[in-house]
Amino acid sequence: MKREKWTGKMGFILVSVGSAIGLGNIWLFSWRVGEYGGAAFLIPYLLFVFGIASVGLMEEWAFGRSQVKGAIGAFENVFEEKKEGAGKIGAALGFIPVAAVFSIYIFYAIVIGWLLKYFFLSFTGAFNVINIPEYFGTFTGTANTIGWHAVAVIGTMVIVFFGVQRGIEKANKIMMPVLFAILLILVIRSVTLEGAMDGIKYIFVPEWSKLAEVKTWIMALGQAFFTLSLGGATMLVYGSYARDDTDIPSASIQAVSFNFMASMLAALAIIPAVFAFGLDPAAGPGLLFVSIPTVFAKMPGGYIFGILFFLSVVFAGFSSSVSMLEPAVEGFMDKTGFSRGKAVLLLSVVAFLIGLPLDVDMSKFGTWADITTIYVLPFGAFVAAVVFFWVFGADKARAEINKNSNIRFGKWFEPYGKYIFVLVAFVVLVLNIIYGGIG
Ligand code: PHE
Repeated sequence: MKREKWTGKMGFILVSVGSAIGLGNIWLFSWRVGEYGGAAFLIPYLLFVFGIASVGLMEEWAFGRSQVKGAIGAFENVFEEKKEGAGKIGAALGFIPVAAVFSIYIFYAIVIGWLLKYFFLSFTGAFNVINIPEYFGTFTGTANTIGWHAVAVIGTMVIVFFGVQRGIEKANKIMMPVLFAILLILVIRSVTLEGAMDGIKYIFVPEWSKLAEVKTWIMALGQAFFTLSLGGATMLVYGSYARDDTDIPSASIQAVSFNFMASMLAALAIIPAVFAFGLDPAAGPGLLFVSIPTVFAKMPGGYIFGILFFLSVVFAGFSSSVSMLEPAVEGFMDKTGFSRGKAVLLLSVVAFLIGLPLDVDMSKFGTWADITTIYVLPFGAFVAAVVFFWVFGADKARAEINKNSNIRFGKWFEPYGKYIFVLVAFVVLVLNIIYGGIG
């Protein structure tokens, strides 16, 4: 079977942006900006995301494109080329990032299930009726989530089933423009609310003293890696479907910019509204499932804005979840010769079944989410960087990134990738472990 490719550079950027924009942008970024110094936080964030994490993005894309394989096949090729017979070790190593991202998918699908439920609730006008803070606690961790979880798995499965162009690219081509349009509408609503100013200040007024705190820098670094989906599998497999004439450095700048834009829009859509109603700009599920529905229950026109909001977050979720399933599907097809349909079906069933115990037990859910994001994903990102810059070789890495690009990285890029980036990827892993999660 012929390997599919994206239709072009635009499609490639779009799917990557789709992967990048996810819960990280919505339930973490907005809160972090406020918590770690407002506009001051943007300094380390932008520094890390453009200066360091974008290199990881180029590395994963170029790695996949050069081998025309996902992580398992790509690592295998590179090892085999180094030493005959070593390919097996490479394939085993390449399995780690793929498994990492797949294990994130397992719990991410559950969260998408919650989002679907809230999307449904917004339709029925339930936010005005239910006790919102209590509701979340009585819904999550119970069997009532299972049906919604199943819908999330089926939705992801259908998109990935249709393949690279007709599935993933097509879905993103619909979801991404809608997502941006909705966010814009919500920003206008949010910042024009009475009392929105406090929220705008929370985001923008720089607290320079925060720059003196190590934690600010650490959180910005973790955010930069997670938000670009660096884990050695997703962006790598997306790169493997990129055409040879794709300008990787420029695509990277564009993807990082779009992703940043989405984060800022989400922050401006959420935080001022949360402040306007005197609520808690919490991080994580508390923000999405408690503060925000409360806002929509109180806001003029909240019914329609609530529907729009949850639709946009559902889109953000699916555009990421497909990028977590695809690496495993590609690896499975490549290794077993199974058709896409069979691979997608099998892996979806596996992901759903492993997720079931997490559906009904929030402490298991929390442990799973922690282990996969704190240890496994950063480890995948680190391993991919080592294999690309050290085993494949920094000179070849630079050549692949520069291929058909208008931006040409000079010789300096080789030590930058080989030492600085690899070291930072390692530091991200260590800090995740020390801090119990920074992504
Ligand atoms: N970047 C996604 C987010 O911000 C998360 C993600 C991580 C997606 C790893 C794919 C792979 O939510």
